[in-house]
Order: sequence, then structure tokens, then C-alpha cells
Amino acid sequence: MKAALEAELARAVQLLRAGELVAFPTETVYGLGADAANPQAVAKIFTAKERPPDHPLIVHLASAASIDAWAREVPDAAYKLAAAFWPGPLTLILKRAHQVPDAVTGGQDTVGLRVPDHPLALALLAEFGGGIAAPSANRHGRISPTTAAHVLAELGDAVSLVLDGGPCQVGIESTIVDLSRGTPVILRPGAISAADISRVIGAAPEEGLAGRDAHAPRVSGSLASHYAPETRLRLLPSQRLLPAVHAALAAGQRVAVLARFPRPWDAAGLEWVAAPEDAKGYAFELYATLRMLDESGVDLILVQAPEATVEWQAIADRLRRAACGSGAEEET
Ligand code: TXA
Ligand code: MG
Repeated sequence: MKAALEAELARAVQLLRAGELVAFPTETVYGLGADAANPQAVAKIFTAKERPPDHPLIVHLASAASIDAWAREVPDAAYKLAAAFWPGPLTLILKRAHQVPDAVTGGQDTVGLRVPDHPLALALLAEFGGGIAAPSANRHGRISPTTAAHVLAELGDAVSLVLDGGPCQVGIESTIVDLSRGTPVILRPGAISAADISRVIGAAPEEGLAGRDAHAPRVSGSLASHYAPETRLRLLPSQRLLPAVHAALAAGQRVAVLARFPRPWDAAGLEWVAAPEDAKGYAFELYATLRMLDESGVDLILVQAPEATVEWQAIADRLRRAACGSGAEEET
């Protein structure tokens, strides 16, 4: 490892030990980290993000060997999933070990655990030696950051240090599976699908959305309006996209389009992003693109809705929330 990077890591560890916040890259999105065993440090996360204090945080670990230090009554399925997918974009919700601070769990009896798949995050966790509580490093309800520059734009001085690990390779947040209540339930879709999980544990998880299930733990990512740009965003089925573009331009609006095909014609006031046609490539670029379009000064962002297949499920979920949070109606 380069000397400059080592010095940066040493500083990050020092800050975490002193109860300060450090933002760091993961393979999904950037996290805003604090010492998970220090309630005062964890409290700073909520202040920096303007996040309601009862929303629980994910504890990031260096390896699956620490599961039992943070969780109790761990079912076999958890060890199997950890062995199959960690380090990787999967968060396990388990009954918490007794010493896990309420500040981390929002006072619930469960804790979210994940080993991120990023060399810088893993080096930080290994050197720190404890759990790092970290939500996505954005202001509450806004688009998650996938570069160090996004973190600075979101949080500025509220964070002591941002470790720059380049753009996040997955680009959307981890899959969350709740293993605390018997039947596994997917609380947030992500790059690891229900089929991936089912192959490992030998049973299909339920696809519960916390909003529809009164007994589900609170997941702020399950609020209808999350991951939202400030500009109005509408999600439209392919056949309604171009008519909507024409109508908005005719009404004198400046329009940005996020589609999976090239711009069909030029027009004043029309911005066009042709996104990758594959789900992985699309997810990698999604948040940076939404952020760029949000800042481009248009009146309206129109997004071609993805097809309703398993591959596109997590992306469709994030786009629906983006549409909802931006104040526009969902149209699909
Ligand atoms: O990919 C990710 O998961 C990223 C990176 C940084 O690891 N983190 C992330 O954290 O997305 P956050 O806080 O923005 O979203 C995590 C979600 C929240 O909606 C939170 O409510 C939920 O996980 N969560 C955390 N602990 C939980 C628990 N004990 N029970 C239910 N949901 C939980
Ligand atoms: Mg978040």
C-alpha cells in the first residue's frame, strides 16, 4: 500500500477512536462511519445526516468471524449467507448482542451487519479492529453518494475525513435480508437477488416491504420517498416516454431524459442521457446520473421505467422512490 494511503488510513483510525466521523467507500455506496461501540460518536451521524434518531444503522465488520460479537441466536442461514456473499452487498438483520448500543439499533432488538467488498473499507475495518456503524453518506432522504466528491457535496464540514476509493462499483445499496423472525424476508432489494439467497439457504425468502408489514423492523430505505432528487422526477413506461417529452417541451419546460436508447431528435431545452442497457452498468451510473441531472437546472426529469424482471428489481425500486420523493406521481 502506498505511504500516503497508509497515513490516510492511520488518520481515519485515529479519528474513529476519538469518536469522530469518517466517510469511506464501499462497493455499494459511500458510508458515513463512526465507532459502533461509542454512542456519542454514533449520535454525530444522525446530526450530520439530519436523520431521525430511531432509524437503525448497519454495523460494518472486517469479517464474518465477528458476527457473534454483534448478534445472538444467529440462525444457520446467516452463517451460510455470510460465507457465500461476504465481503459483498448483503446486509443481515439479526437479533442484537446485548452490548450493541441503542443508538445503533434505534432501540430495536435487532442489528444490521455487513462486510463490505472494498479494499479500503476492509483495510480500515481491519486496522480499526471494531465495528463501524455507517449509513449512506448523504443527507436524509437524498441520493446516496457513489464518489468522494458526492460525499463532500452532501455533508461538507460535517465529516472529519473522506477516504477516496474511487467510484463505487455496484452503485446501489446492499440487499437487506431479515433473519431475526424465522422466515427470511428481503427488506430492501439489491445486487444480491432473492434467487441468489434461495440457492444458498435452500428456501425462497419472502419479499416483504417494511411499509406493508406492521411487524417488520424499521428500514428508512423502505420509506416511499427515499433516494430522491430535488427536481421533479417522473417514471414512465417506454411507450409513454416520448409523448411526455413532447408535451413538456411544448409547455415550455426544460426536460432531462434518462432512457436506455439514444436521443431520437434534438430540441432546445432537452437533455438526454442514454444509460447502459444492462442492469449492472445502469446501477453503476444511476446515482451519479441522477445527481448530475438534478444539478443541470431542468424543470423535469423523465425516466424510462425498466422492465419488470428480477434483474431490474432493485433499480426499479430506487427509481420509484426517487419519483415519489421528488413530489411527482408514480406512473407505472
Ligand atoms: O449498501 C449499504 O447498505 C450502504 C453501505 C454504506 O454499506 N449502507 C446503507 O445504509 O445503505 P443506510 O443507513 O443508508 O441504509 C440501511 C438501511 C436503513 O434503511 C436502515 O433502516 C436499515 O438498513 N437497517 C439497519 N439496521 C436495521 C435493523 N436492525 N432492522 C431493520 N433495518 C435496519
Ligand atoms: Mg441511505
